[in-house]
Amino acid sequence: MKPDEQSLKGRTAIVSGGARGIGRAIADDFLRCGANLVIVDPGVGMAGEAQEPGLADQVVAGRNCAAAVCGDIADPRVVRQAVALARSRFGAVDILVNNAAILRDSMIFKASREDWDAVLRTNLSGAFQLLAEATPVMREQVKAGRTPGSIINIVSSSGIYGNFGQYAYSASKAGMIGLTRAVAHDLARSGITCNAVAPFAATRVTESLPPANENLAAYKRRALTVPAVYVARLVSFLAAPASLHISGQLFAVRGRDTMLFSQARPAAHILQQPGGSTIMDLTEAVREWQPVFTLLETDIDAFGGDPVV
Ligand SMILES: NC(=O)c1ccc[n+]([C@@H]2O[C@H](COP(=O)([O-])OP(=O)(O)OC[C@H]3O[C@@H](n4cnc5c(N)ncnc54)[C@H](O)[C@@H]3O)[C@@H](O)[C@H]2O)c1
Repeated sequence: MKPDEQSLKGRTAIVSGGARGIGRAIADDFLRCGANLVIVDPGVGMAGEAQEPGLADQVVAGRNCAAAVCGDIADPRVVRQAVALARSRFGAVDILVNNAAILRDSMIFKASREDWDAVLRTNLSGAFQLLAEATPVMREQVKAGRTPGSIINIVSSSGIYGNFGQYAYSASKAGMIGLTRAVAHDLARSGITCNAVAPFAATRVTESLPPANENLAAYKRRALTVPAVYVARLVSFLAAPASLHISGQLFAVRGRDTMLFSQARPAAHILQQPGGSTIMDLTEAVREWQPVFTLLETDIDAFGGDPVV
């Protein structure tokens, strides 16, 4: 038997958006590691439009350790159903993966309130909903003597660097990074961990990137060579009891390159005059910060180069 096949044995995971793409790779890896699995996925298109409503059922068909809820992770009734299913079918909830996301890209000066609401609802409120429903259960389990569980939020480099045309998506993913830190603090005493992973992998999303310029066309060609398995392997590691000492951290996976990100802390200080400095004083003082300003670059500028696959 390969060593990983027992590493999640007896643990039960809920994966949102687990019927396709990176979520599917994570779900498959969990099953390979011996976990029980509930996927929550309404089988929608990239912008959240109805597409394949029975996809989640198809993915779990014939797999004894897996069950599906074909519904929207932002709908409290759906999430209640998923948590109840995990408990009734498998006896517990140990691992949460907030992976479901949609995209509705446009520049901020062509923004639509409807798109903003839809993206924030799925990507951020969906994660909140699952956390709000499942963490009370996970804490009670720890009190009853069960090994603490793990939460993994799938974020994006777009939420760290920002990206053109992704005001809603970037905001939702940056929100998830803040959510990760807050939840890690809240659950620290119970030993339940919460970490974030920014993935890169070939899925229908990378496939659909409109190559607006040669830089993006080259990025797309490179991105399409990256399998999701490396993301799934890091997520399984973070879900395993062996990593219960790690919480509040931000990781990224780009092909085989697996990264730990630093997180924002003060990079420079000045003291204002008592009662507040003048704009002229601030102009002088802040000039010295120029070398430590964060460059306005995207992840594509920052990473460059081919991913290692
Ligand atoms: N592919 C990449 O390189 C990349 C890069 C950065 C971040 N991500 C993140 O990785 C995650 C997966 O992305 P992907 O490329 O596999 O996307 P995908 O579009 O291929 O799959 C997303 C899945 O989520 C499901 N989903 C959408 N709305 C849902 C909802 N309301 N409730 C439950 N499920 C829902 C979809 O039906 C689909 O099965 C997302 O969080 C995405 O933001 C991906």
